[in-house]
Amino acid sequence: MAVTLDPRLSLVASFVRQGSVVADIGTDHAYLPVYLVQTGRCPRAVASDLRMGPLQNAKQTVAEHGLCDKIDTVLSDGLDALDAHCADDVVLAGMGGILIAELLSRAAWLRDPTVRVIAQPMSHAEDVRLWLYENGFSIDREACAFDKHHGYAAIAAHYTGETAAITPALPYGGLLFEEKDEAAARYLERQKQRLEKRRNALLQAGTDPAETARLTAILNDFERRNHPTC
Ligand SMILES: C[S@@+](CC[C@H](N)C(=O)[O-])C[C@H]1O[C@@H](n2cnc3c(N)ncnc32)[C@H](O)[C@@H]1O
Repeated sequence: MAVTLDPRLSLVASFVRQGSVVADIGTDHAYLPVYLVQTGRCPRAVASDLRMGPLQNAKQTVAEHGLCDKIDTVLSDGLDALDAHCADDVVLAGMGGILIAELLSRAAWLRDPTVRVIAQPMSHAEDVRLWLYENGFSIDREACAFDKHHGYAAIAAHYTGETAAITPALPYGGLLFEEKDEAAARYLERQKQRLEKRRNALLQAGTDPAETARLTAILNDFERRNHPTC
């Protein structure tokens, strides 16, 4: 039976390059790699997870779909136990942004221009973008999917060795600032509202002027990006 993906994982799947070997880090049930191999987008895959329970789920899904010869399952903290260059496209989806950034920082072989990194953070997406910008990666593509009113960003990047100029709001929206679709606009609006809420609470409390100023600079940059002529 064919695996179907929810809108969030469908978006992530669409970022995986046709013909690439994919590694799915934090795979849990391995729905993504099974889908990618089943649909012929990827000839092979590695499905890895930190914990034995999720890895057993992955093994079961892979076996049920008769893909044991095409999908390897690996117990691994991030990419630590994976062979360097075992994949062309590396997916880190469904985890927090701070964790994703940390896992990326530990895998030196990702600093190869031919490797595509695909991140789908559930929170703190700004930490992932910031890590990529500060560590010589170029963000090539971003898009959002909404599911049950929650917006998820997917980010595809590759290593160039060049660091980008980072304005205050850039980590909060990345390439989505250049997207004109409704999902990107909704995602950015929510980011802005979240920042405004925090800034206003701090303003009222008067407890942390440095953080208040930082948030204000980010919000001003959001405004500039929304109204570039101002
Ligand atoms: C919410 S699930 C996401 C599953 C799937 N990637 C998705 O997007 O639907 C998060 C998974 O990440 C795994 N995980 C958490 N920390 C990890 C780490 N350091 N290395 C590898 N996997 C990790 C968890 O065990 C869990 O199975």
